[in-house]
Amino acid sequence: MTIRKIARMGHPVLRKPARALTLKEISSPEIQRLIQDMMETMHDAGGIGLAAPQVHEALQLALIEIKVDNPRYPEMAEEQELLVLINPKVTVLDETEQAFWEGCLSVPGLRGLVHRPRKIQIDYLDQNGKEQQFIAEDFLATVFQHELDHLNATLYVDKIKDPRNLVFIEEYQRYILPESKDQELAD
Ligand code: NI
Repeated sequence: MTIRKIARMGHPVLRKPARALTLKEISSPEIQRLIQDMMETMHDAGGIGLAAPQVHEALQLALIEIKVDNPRYPEMAEEQELLVLINPKVTVLDETEQAFWEGCLSVPGLRGLVHRPRKIQIDYLDQNGKEQQFIAEDFLATVFQHELDHLNATLYVDKIKDPRNLVFIEEYQRYILPESKDQELAD
C-alpha cells in the first residue's frame, strides 16, 4: 500500500467531474489497489472520508470511516464502519436543512458552516461490485454528502451560504466551538 498525495483546492482534478467505473474495472488490480491506497491515505491523514479525486483520480469512488477514537475529532460520538462507495446515487429523503462546520483534507486549515438536507439514501456499488443501499441521517448525512460532492467537482466551500462562516481552525476552536452545539466535521 502507498500513501498518496492529496490534491488541494486549486488543483484542476478537484473541479473535474468523476467518471463511473465499470464492473470489470472495479475487480481490476488497479482499482483494488487504489482502494487500499485511499484507505491508507485516509488513515494517515486522520480523515473520516476520502474521495478518489482527492488523490488525483477522477473516478466515482469514495471511502467513509468514522472511529470514535480518532484523536483529531474526540467529540465524534457515532461510529461508522468503513464503507467503499462506487458510482453512488443520492436521493434526498428529508429536505429539512441542518448545518455543520465542515473541513476538508483538500482545504487544509479551514472550517466552514454548510447547510444540507438531513436525511438521504445512497445507492452504490461496493468494492466487490455488489449493489448496496444505505440511509444516512443527521451528522452522517452531511459526511456522505460532503464526500459524494467531491465526485461532482464540488467542494464544501461552494456551499457556504454566508462567506463570514469560513474561518481558520484555530479561530473556530477558540471563538466558535465553545459557543456552538454543532458537531464538527472534517474529511
Ligand atoms: Ni473533502
